[in-house]
Amino acid sequence: MGKSRNSGADLNRARPLDHQKAREIQPFSQVIHRPIALSQSVARQSVENLNQVLADTITLRDLYKKHHWQVAGPTFYALHLLFDKHYEEQNELVDTLAERIQSLGGVTLAMAADVAETTIIPRPPRGREEAPVQISRLLHAHEIVLKEARTMARQAAEAGDDGTNDLLVSDVIRTNEKQAWFVSEHLVDVPLVRAD
Ligand SMILES: [Fe+2]
Repeated sequence: MGKSRNSGADLNRARPLDHQKAREIQPFSQVIHRPIALSQSVARQSVENLNQVLADTITLRDLYKKHHWQVAGPTFYALHLLFDKHYEEQNELVDTLAERIQSLGGVTLAMAADVAETTIIPRPPRGREEAPVQISRLLHAHEIVLKEARTMARQAAEAGDDGTNDLLVSDVIRTNEKQAWFVSEHLVDVPLVRAD
């Protein structure tokens, strides 16, 4: 009789090799060289800037989802949908920023605890707030992102990092300006039924 097909040795070969551990292959603070015709110092500066915008974009994205869930009042439906649309658009930006950081040879911020330590957007309370307060928070966050993104875009252009400049201008700045417009119109105190 031949060897059993279900011997312990055979099954071991199919066992997943889980619980593996090793040193990390690239520390967060280090930027590796990629052959993209940019100096290490330019790539390092762009990575540092992009990780800051990334932390603030993740925070703004999550602020939209919080408000999508917690919004209250007569404008509930409009704001519920708008907040989720903006969440999705910010989520796209998060991925674009993170992949730019990796393509420059850097390491992207990713986890909530690291984002919380890095973002400069004020932390909201855990509880629910009125819609005008939610919107004011969002507008403040947009303005923080816009201010830093414009400064960083100029810095990237001057350093010759056109890809980072383009991402910041075409994606981050334009998206945030447009969202700020849509959101801020909800704070204009015009009559709903009877004209003044
Ligand atoms: Fe939802």
